Amino acid sequence: MKLKSKIGLGHSSIIATYSLLILFTLALVNCAQSDKAKSSSYHEQHRPQFHFSPEKGWMNDPNGLVYHNGTYHLFYQYFPDSTVWGPMHWGHATSTDLVRWKNLPIALYPDSLGYIFSGSAVVDQGNSTGFQQGKEKPLVAIFTYHDIEKEKAGRIDRESQGIAYSNDNGNTWIKYTGNPVLKNKGDQDFRDPKVFWYDSTKKWIMPLAVGDHLEIFSSPNIKDWAKESEFGKNEGSHGGVWECPDLFPLKTKKGKEKWILIQNIGRGSVNGGSGTQYFVGKFDGKNFTNENTPSTTLWFDYGADNYAGVTWNSAPDNRRVFIGWMSNWDDYATIVPASTWRSATTLPRDLSLIETTEGTRIAQNPIIELEQLRKAKTEISPRAFSDSLTIESPFVQKELLLHFDLVHSTSKVLGFTISNSVHEKVIIGFDRATSEFFIDRTHSGKISFSKKFAKKHIAPFKAERLMTIHAFLDATSVELFVDGGQLAMTELFFPNEDYKNLTLFSSEGKTELLKAEVFELKSIWNDEK
Ligand code: FRU
Repeated sequence: MKLKSKIGLGHSSIIATYSLLILFTLALVNCAQSDKAKSSSYHEQHRPQFHFSPEKGWMNDPNGLVYHNGTYHLFYQYFPDSTVWGPMHWGHATSTDLVRWKNLPIALYPDSLGYIFSGSAVVDQGNSTGFQQGKEKPLVAIFTYHDIEKEKAGRIDRESQGIAYSNDNGNTWIKYTGNPVLKNKGDQDFRDPKVFWYDSTKKWIMPLAVGDHLEIFSSPNIKDWAKESEFGKNEGSHGGVWECPDLFPLKTKKGKEKWILIQNIGRGSVNGGSGTQYFVGKFDGKNFTNENTPSTTLWFDYGADNYAGVTWNSAPDNRRVFIGWMSNWDDYATIVPASTWRSATTLPRDLSLIETTEGTRIAQNPIIELEQLRKAKTEISPRAFSDSLTIESPFVQKELLLHFDLVHSTSKVLGFTISNSVHEKVIIGFDRATSEFFIDRTHSGKISFSKKFAKKHIAPFKAERLMTIHAFLDATSVELFVDGGQLAMTELFFPNEDYKNLTLFSSEGKTELLKAEVFELKSIWNDEK
């Protein structure tokens, strides 16, 4: 009776409720089963075979890149419930070699303070946070809270910085009860903390993107932050909002330390839409100073599809490994062809410094660990060729190493084409007359989703007498590294049928090929060891 009066249920309605409950439980079981049945084989059309992509749902920026106890952590901007951007979580995957990835449960969920936007993770070696509970060093994630309610209400102070910690090597995360640790004082764009330890001052440093510039904060304990400096209002490119910074030292070949500031930019990149610029200079624990003129813009990648990339904290052997989101936020990221997931990362790349006549520049090369993916090899011995040279390599995933002697070549344009039997193709080459590399995806297959996609993109390049092209071709991407990574271009394509044909071309003259090696690559997803 008490129950009845309290919740107002009669006998028949109790039965109805129980039946509903049973039905609901059955539906849940069913749902779980069909979810399981749906779990990805990673072999859908357009599924990258040696790049990381989430099993399902939407992904954008890589986040929380940290190496700890032999494991590389890759967190990422994630919306599990749709293939377009939405309430942001941190997805999580780990790897011991940066090649094969293990998908893990979501690490951070949105909460009452907001969506979990981009950020970083560190190992708190000295337990400066006091978060350590057992023997393990705490991992601390520092991220942006984006308060969607404040945004809807038109409030400017919608972004702040929060932290979370893990005492079990990144498996589970606890949000700090004192969040946010860095409040918003009136900047609409106030995000993407990339925290690192600066030993000389024994402080944590947080570079943060604030609209049209960078702000640098410091802290003894990751909880209390003081502003140190600003950089960039009148430096580099400003076609769009600054996002996802990264600041780290690299050594020149002569052993001199320089600081690199990676600064992603939401619009106005060299080949349209979003892209990544960088600065070379000094950092003294408080200020970053640019060694180039303020009007100089250095582009990290001349392709259209490398955005929001940053580097791993605490990687072994002083390595600086970069990974980006292989898409273009501003131009078409949410509408590229997709089925159950959308987006992949770039290949991880080792960064180094090179000296050029214009100054110190970044070189980027695919990590050496990728060599374990090599399977069958096709090799072409030295020869001169005109028009075209078909390489018999009827597989989709490939790595190319092409060596050219430019002094003895007379061709105007040289390069390679990937194509399929329905006359779709991507042309990748070097125009010697204009001194430009290009990727032409105007006839690459599915292009109608955006007017901004079917383009030929170019990159200026000063070629030497010998030239090496190192390229990786996956189901929907090409990544090009020229002459030891002095130039990088990353681009997407969506052929209706896989590109299996590979042809070298040499137009208006002959090309001296010193050697060509083409490797078939294993898939990282189907246990090919
Ligand atoms: C960059 C970015 C970040 C932000 C995140 C939101 O792609 O806009 O600035 O933190 O994505 O998902």
